[in-house]
Amino acid sequence: MIEARDLHKHFGPIKALQGVTVEILEGLTLILGPNGGGKSTFMKVSLGLYKPTKGTVKLLGKNPWKHPDVRKGIGVAFDPGRFPKLTTGREWLEFIARARGADRSDVEKAARLFGIEDALDRRIEGYSSGMLKRLSLAQAFVGGPDVIFLDEPLANVDFESVAEIVRVICKWKGKGRSFVIISHIWEPFEGLADYGVVISGGKVYLKGEFREIADDVAEMFRPLGIKNGSPG
Ligand SMILES: Nc1ncnc2c1ncn2[C@@H]1O[C@H](COP(=O)(O)OP(=O)(O)OP(=O)(O)O)[C@@H](O)[C@H]1O
Ligand SMILES: [Mg+2]
Repeated sequence: MIEARDLHKHFGPIKALQGVTVEILEGLTLILGPNGGGKSTFMKVSLGLYKPTKGTVKLLGKNPWKHPDVRKGIGVAFDPGRFPKLTTGREWLEFIARARGADRSDVEKAARLFGIEDALDRRIEGYSSGMLKRLSLAQAFVGGPDVIFLDEPLANVDFESVAEIVRVICKWKGKGRSFVIISHIWEPFEGLADYGVVISGGKVYLKGEFREIADDVAEMFRPLGIKNGSPG
């Protein structure tokens, strides 16, 4: 789905990506790594929202910067999500549905998936953090795209909602949808992830089939010096 070769992205003096070469296949890929490591930048360059400073990227076989239409079949939830605050959730999701060539009735369906159907007619400016996250997830799923990118889908949601969201992703994956998920909260995805990529300091630090890198990932996330629940 994504083929990146020696991808660099600089923002003035900041080198957000410094030579990322990676292939992301169909299935569920989990992208992990420290804050500021370049994960969201990699996602935005892959979607053609940022132009690479150097290197190339193909999304579904096309250069996404030159062929933005390739995004039409892809659902995206950004983190933080950005919305026009004075519109209602329904107006926003209908706008996304139109852009994706989906039906208005898909809006209710997507809202129900993430439990915000009752808030749809309220202005987005009154949404809580958790509701904003649910709205951005509904935005990614509206119209049933085949490929879905989620940046931090579990941020700002309570325990029960984590399970709900993972269940939805699991169900859609079972229907043959592919996912690229960036998440600091990775454990709930452990059993679902086919592949993993760790991006740190603008570089790929680790990549492979998830079950092969799972131990290294667990080690990376272990608080310093703490093993089996007690300080080592
Ligand atoms: N639009 C931008 N303008 C300037 N600098 C940016 C921009 N976007 C990202 N950066 C910088 O690029 C680096 C990588 O940021 P990025 O958002 O990709 O990290 P991340 O891995 O997603 O981090 P986090 O886990 O905190 O979300 C950071 O130093 C960040 O400040
Ligand atoms: Mg990020």
